[in-house]
Amino acid sequence: MALATRTDRRPSMTRTLWDSSVGKKTVMAVSGLIMLLYLVVHMIGNLKIFFGPEEINHYARWLRTMGEPVLHHEWGLWIVRVVLVVAVVAHATSAYQLSRRDIKARPSKYVHKKPRASYATRTMRWGGIILGLFIVWHLLDLTTGTVHPDGYQHLHPYQNIIDTFSTWYGNVIYLVAMLALGLHVRHGFWSAAQSLGVGSRTRDRLLKTTAHVLALVLTVGFVSVPVAVMTGVVS
Ligand code: HEM
Repeated sequence: MALATRTDRRPSMTRTLWDSSVGKKTVMAVSGLIMLLYLVVHMIGNLKIFFGPEEINHYARWLRTMGEPVLHHEWGLWIVRVVLVVAVVAHATSAYQLSRRDIKARPSKYVHKKPRASYATRTMRWGGIILGLFIVWHLLDLTTGTVHPDGYQHLHPYQNIIDTFSTWYGNVIYLVAMLALGLHVRHGFWSAAQSLGVGSRTRDRLLKTTAHVLALVLTVGFVSVPVAVMTGVVS
């Protein structure tokens, strides 16, 4: 009797969905779109540097007070941080598991000669790894100041950003990451739309154009900051 009860136990709906490739692709799409939304807002916020130190430093202070007085000081920012961490972990875990599945499923006639993944798949994998490493560096640079070139000043992003882009390696790290970001968003947005079933013969053109425009706007918007510091427009 006890055995019958045990074998009768079915996995939950959530478990079944998570175990399926469709479920993992949906998780990737939703978490990717959450991060994309954050990036658009972050990029617009960064452009405040062009209006002078007071504008962007004020923005950094607002990040800590948003939601007040309903929320306690910094709670709004912490909610955003928790959502972002959950999105990053969900995105990376499902990407890793899908890629393991893909490698196992590929037919291998010869032990040493497995067919290579497509160009888009390889670009997405490497882009994802570069962006993951970049986020760690970026937080240590402009949020905690641990690897910051000159004395890091809390709540003074204007000066901190100028310090970062006054070093050659700061510029190289950010420019490479922004390029990876553009390529990742261009393909990722399109893939997310397909995973969520939004694509259709009539809509695909519009989706592709949106993916290109989003990737271009984000890349140009983010890159404009180091370029402005390098050229002396922001100093
Ligand atoms: C030129 C490009 C970028 C610049 C100049 C920049 C600038 C900054 C600055 C100044 C902060 C600290 C804000 C503060 O604490 O007051 C910050 C935080 C952050 N940035 Fe960026 N950022 C750039 C690109 C990116 C990209 C591409 C990503 C993601 C892939 C990203 C993700 C983050 C995250 C997650 C935080 C932490 C927010 C928090 O929880 O405090 N940034 N960025």
